[in-house]
Amino acid sequence: MSQNNIIESLTGKTTNKHKSRIPAKLDFLQSATGLILALFIVFHLIFESSILLGKESMYALTMMFEGEFFIEGGSPIFISVLAMVIFTIFIAHAFLAMRKFPSSYKEYMRYRTHAKLMNHEDTNLWFIQISSGFMLFFLGSIHLYTMMTQPQNIGPFASSDRIYSDLMWPMYLMLLVSVILHAAVGIYRLIVKWGWFDGKDAKANRIRNKKIIKLAVIFYLAIGIFSLLTYMKIGYDHQDNYGERYHLPNKVEHAN
Ligand code: HEM
Repeated sequence: MSQNNIIESLTGKTTNKHKSRIPAKLDFLQSATGLILALFIVFHLIFESSILLGKESMYALTMMFEGEFFIEGGSPIFISVLAMVIFTIFIAHAFLAMRKFPSSYKEYMRYRTHAKLMNHEDTNLWFIQISSGFMLFFLGSIHLYTMMTQPQNIGPFASSDRIYSDLMWPMYLMLLVSVILHAAVGIYRLIVKWGWFDGKDAKANRIRNKKIIKLAVIFYLAIGIFSLLTYMKIGYDHQDNYGERYHLPNKVEHAN
């Protein structure tokens, strides 16, 4: 280990008496990985709610993600690779976020009491983000691992069988609420932290941004819950044929 590192670890300053730039770099990386994941979720929940338009729409989107436009019949390997990339970013983001968790009961109590005394909305938002982030460690990993290892089991019937017959719906319900709250608070905090959209009147714009984000939360919760109910209904009707794949009407050559 270099002497510089030993000195920095003891004094908190580098040998030329500067504070290390590493915490700022880690903060930037945390924001960047969070932004990528939030953008992914914004599109993912929309695509995935295609089931609301019918089984054929969800099937068509699944085939698109399987790369049907450049490989005849598509291949689930594309979904597996995408899940692997997202999982890697997810793990990096969780690793960076661990620095922000209270590390002892004493620290947690100090924070909670302070937050309650201040009753400041943005401070309370931080608590929502930490709790939902903790849930995502587990729930996000279950889902991403499934998508990575069983990409062939995605489709109107395969997904509904998983959600209803394999009893994954409670997991999805918790994942849905946690990820929407986490992404919403995360995006709001990013906007405040980096001063995006502050414009001439930062305070008024911040209030406006908060309103837009609250509406987005309601929208995403609504489409997420209705999609989940739709998958459950399809899974319930399909339980006696568990495992059978969806076929496009008049087309039997590819099944999902
Ligand atoms: C490339 C990676 C991913 C793929 C391929 C994928 C795919 C899917 C699919 C096919 C479904 C439908 C249910 C099923 O078949 O089991 C689904 C549902 C869902 N996914 Fe993902 N997902 C990915 C990443 C994520 C991530 C990172 C999150 C959040 C951390 C997430 C959150 C959800 C939620 C909340 C639902 C349920 C939505 C609802 O209630 O309608 N997904 N995903």
